[in-house]
Amino acid sequence: MEMKAAVLYEANKPLAIETVELDDPKDGEVLVRIAAAGVCYSDYHVMKGEWSMPKPVVLGHEGAGIVEKVGAGVTRLSPGDHVILNFRANCGHCDHCIVGRPVLCDGIEAGRVFMFDGTVRLHRNGQDIHHMTRTACFAEYAVVPESGAVPIRSDMPLDKACLIGCSVMTGLGAVTNTARIEAGSDVAVIGCGGVGLNTIQGALLAGADRIIAVDLLDNKLEYAKEFGATDLINAGNGDAVARVRELTKGGVDYAFEVIGNPKTIIQAYEMCRIGGTTVIVGMAPENDIIEINALSLPRTERAIVGSWYGSARPWVDLPKLTDLYMRGRLKIDPMISRTWRLDEINEAYQTLAAGDVARSVILFD
Ligand code: APR
Ligand code: ZN
Repeated sequence: MEMKAAVLYEANKPLAIETVELDDPKDGEVLVRIAAAGVCYSDYHVMKGEWSMPKPVVLGHEGAGIVEKVGAGVTRLSPGDHVILNFRANCGHCDHCIVGRPVLCDGIEAGRVFMFDGTVRLHRNGQDIHHMTRTACFAEYAVVPESGAVPIRSDMPLDKACLIGCSVMTGLGAVTNTARIEAGSDVAVIGCGGVGLNTIQGALLAGADRIIAVDLLDNKLEYAKEFGATDLINAGNGDAVARVRELTKGGVDYAFEVIGNPKTIIQAYEMCRIGGTTVIVGMAPENDIIEINALSLPRTERAIVGSWYGSARPWVDLPKLTDLYMRGRLKIDPMISRTWRLDEINEAYQTLAAGDVARSVILFD
């Protein structure tokens, strides 16, 4: 079939909105009609050349839609199912999948811009086009592996559901799945964008006491307050580390870095009290290094842990987060500062880069 997609041919060049061909789903794959896709920073890392990825490529990993067609052997999905895309589609039988850590799945040999069989379904004029994270949802339709489309209740609005697919799961899961904070913990969150706001709301849901939000932009700190932050620090006005230590008498129990910057990762570590845990959620440019005083680790028993996709178990967590939203316990609506059409996507990314939005969403219907 033919459809409209946003294609990245080269880093630091605008995405091209053009008509591409999409093959039918093969064995174990499904075709999803995309309803909405979130404008997340991770795609921007690729656009800026901070993460390498084969090109041309259709980006987009925060999507929701409706299953249109299923390939042979698909048993868990049927046409008409409403789904959230899971950007860590997994094999289901490697050690990591078996022990319940599907985000770490290493059972598929093909790179994550190909379907499991190592080929692509996207083409244009005889040229193959890659699928970012096997989701490629900056397009009217996407072919994804069965495990990459998680069914949800059909009364969930899809423009909100798409954000559960990355920012909500990543931010909130860092608190509830990765760190599993205790009620009453003091928490700091550096970076209050689409992902960080969900770390804040995760901390609130998990019963944190102080939730200290740190950002460089006052508009982001206002969002942070709306999502549950108890204290706001603009890191542009003075020493954020000293301020956090002062507010908490020596540091927080958990510090979350949700930017992906070596400097703020070290700040997060320094904001932690003795025995505290620093959780790295933000994804840095691929060659960045952090330097931390080696002796400080044993002497203070501070832990540094990575959190990828909120340590998600997507087939359990994405429907659960959907239920939380439908029950009115999870905020998503205030994240959506504005919406766009697919052909406005380059402008949407300029707006993200300028820090003007909490999150924005591309609508297809
Ligand atoms: N100090 C404090 N805040 C900062 C700093 C800094 N030095 N630099 C940037 N920020 C803030 C921005 O103002 C913005 O509010 O970090 C926030 C980042 O938010 P977004 O741009 O919305 O990015 P988001 O989509 O939330 O992703 C954050 O998580 O999943 C990863 O790849 C993703 O690395 C990215 C990170
Ligand atoms: Zn994302």
